[in-house]
Amino acid sequence: MNLEALLSARLAAAFSQVAGVTVDPAVRRSQHADFQSGAALPLARELGRAPRDIAADVLAAADLTGVATGEISGPGFLNLRLDDTFVTTAANDVAADPRLGVPLAGHPERVVVDYSSPNVAKELTIGHLRSTVIGDAAVRVLEWLGHDVVRANHLGDWGTAFGLLIEHLGADDAAGIDDLTAFYQAARVRFDTDEEFRTRSRLRVVALQAGDEATLAQWRQLVERSKRYLLAAYERLGVTLGPDDFLGESFYNDRLESVVDDLAAKDLLVESGGALCAFPPGFTGRDGEPLPLIVRKSDGGFGYAATDLAALRYRVEELGATRLLYFVGTPQRVHFQMVFAVGAAAGWLPDGVVAEHVGFGSILGTDGKMFRSRTGESVKLAAVIDEAISRAAELAANPEVARATGIGALKYADLSGDRLSDYTFDWDRMLALTGSTGPYQQYAYARIQAIFDRAGPFEGRIDVVEPAERALVLELLAFAPVVTGVGRSLEFHRLTGHLYAVAQAFSVFYQQCPVLKAPAGVRESRLALCALTARTLRRGLDLLGIATPARM
Ligand code: ARG
Repeated sequence: MNLEALLSARLAAAFSQVAGVTVDPAVRRSQHADFQSGAALPLARELGRAPRDIAADVLAAADLTGVATGEISGPGFLNLRLDDTFVTTAANDVAADPRLGVPLAGHPERVVVDYSSPNVAKELTIGHLRSTVIGDAAVRVLEWLGHDVVRANHLGDWGTAFGLLIEHLGADDAAGIDDLTAFYQAARVRFDTDEEFRTRSRLRVVALQAGDEATLAQWRQLVERSKRYLLAAYERLGVTLGPDDFLGESFYNDRLESVVDDLAAKDLLVESGGALCAFPPGFTGRDGEPLPLIVRKSDGGFGYAATDLAALRYRVEELGATRLLYFVGTPQRVHFQMVFAVGAAAGWLPDGVVAEHVGFGSILGTDGKMFRSRTGESVKLAAVIDEAISRAAELAANPEVARATGIGALKYADLSGDRLSDYTFDWDRMLALTGSTGPYQQYAYARIQAIFDRAGPFEGRIDVVEPAERALVLELLAFAPVVTGVGRSLEFHRLTGHLYAVAQAFSVFYQQCPVLKAPAGVRESRLALCALTARTLRRGLDLLGIATPARM
C-alpha cells in the first residue's frame, strides 16, 4: 500500500486536465493534513492564474471518492484527509498481509553486494563495522523485496603481503596465528628489520604467484584460519555472511591476464613508467594531470584495480548481475568511479546494468577525531562488541537479551545517521532508552509483547476511531513505501526514522487509548492494532539485522 502513489494517481488526471500538461502532483505526508500536494503553486506562473484557483479546479475535477476529501489551504496547497472507512479498510488489508503491504519487486534483479571485504590475516577493526553492518542491511532488504542477491565478500586474500606472512608462518605450524594481529605485526617487524627475511619474503611472493604447491598449502592455511575467525565474528554480530560468500581477490587470479588483453585490444591501456594504465577521461590529480588506474604494475604484477576490473566483468558476464553494489568507505570513491568508467569503456557495463559505490563516512570518537583506542591504534571490533554487550547488561539482566541489545544498539547507531556523513561513536547515546536508538525500538516491541502476555488470546478487526489510533495507522501504512524506497536509495536512516515514528505514535496511542481495560470489541480492535505495530517493528528491525527479544 503506497498512499502517496495512490493519491498522486487520483490527482494526476485532474492536474493534467487543468494544466494541459502532465504534472506530478507530488503528494506527501503533511503536518497540516494527512497528505498534501503543492503542485498547484509552481503552475501559477505558467498558467498565469492564482494557485488557489488552480487548486480549486483540480479539486473539482479530481475523483477522490471512497479515498479522501480535499480542501485548499494557504497560498494554494491541496490538503487531503483520508476517509475513515478507507483508513480502516487499509489497516485491515495490511494486517491480513504477511508482507505488511510491501510489494515484491516488479522486476527482480540479480544484485551482487560487495561488503565487509576485509583483508586476510588481520583482525576486524571498527573500520570494518560500517561496511559489514550497512551491507548486511542492504542484503536483507533486497532479498525481502524479492531480488536475487549474491553476497560477495571480496576478501583480501592475495598480494605481496602474503610473502612475509607465509615466511613468518614457517614450516606448517598454525599455532602462532591464533592472535592474528600479533601474528601480522610480528611478521611486519621482521620484514622491516631483517634483510634476509625480506629477501625470503619476496621470493615467497614469486613462488606463490608461480603456483608452488608447498607455498600454496601454507597460503591456504592462512586463508582458512582467517575465514574461521571471520565467520565466528559474523555469527556473533548476527551478520548473514556465510562460508559460501567468500569471493576473495585470489578468485580472480586467472582472469587478470584476459582483463589486460581485452583492455589492450580496445586501446584503453597506455604504458606509463613501465606500468600499464588506463586513463579514464575526467579524472585528474591535484595538479590537473590525468589520473592513472594501474592495471598492471611495472613489476608485471596485478594490483587492487586489476582485480576489481576482473570482478566487475565476472559479476556482470558470469553471474548475470544487473546491479552491482560496493559497500566501501568514501576514501575509495574515486577508485570505484575509475573502475566503473574503465569497465564501461570496455563494454563490461552494458545498458541496464548499474554499478554503485555505496560509500559511507568514518566513525569518529566523541572528541571529533577518528575513533581510536587510547594507544592510538584502530579499535578491535571484538572489543567493541564485548563492550556493547557488557554495557547493555546494565539494561537487561538476561545474557541473551543483553547481547541482542548491545549489538542492536551498535548496528542501529551505524544505520540511523545519514550514510555519507561521519558519525560519532558515543556509547551513552547509542544505548539510551529515549530517542531514536536500538534499545528504544526494542523496548517498544517488548512492551507490546507484555500487553499480549496479559491479554491472552484475542481476535478481531482493527476499527480506527480515536485520533491516536488514526495517527498510528497512518504511520503503519507508510511502512511499505519506506521499505521500497530504501531498496533503491539504500538510505537506511529513512527506515530507522520511520520505525521511530511508528514507536512514538504507538506510545501516544497507548497513553490515550486504554487497551486491556477497553470495552469488549474496542479491546480486540486495539489489540489487533498492537499486533500490527509489533509485526511492523519486528520486520523493520529484522531488515536492519536487529533482533527483537520478547522481553527486555
Ligand atoms: N579489502 C579492501 C580494504 O580493506 C576492501 C575491498 C572492497 N571491495 C572491493 N571490491 N574492492 O580496503
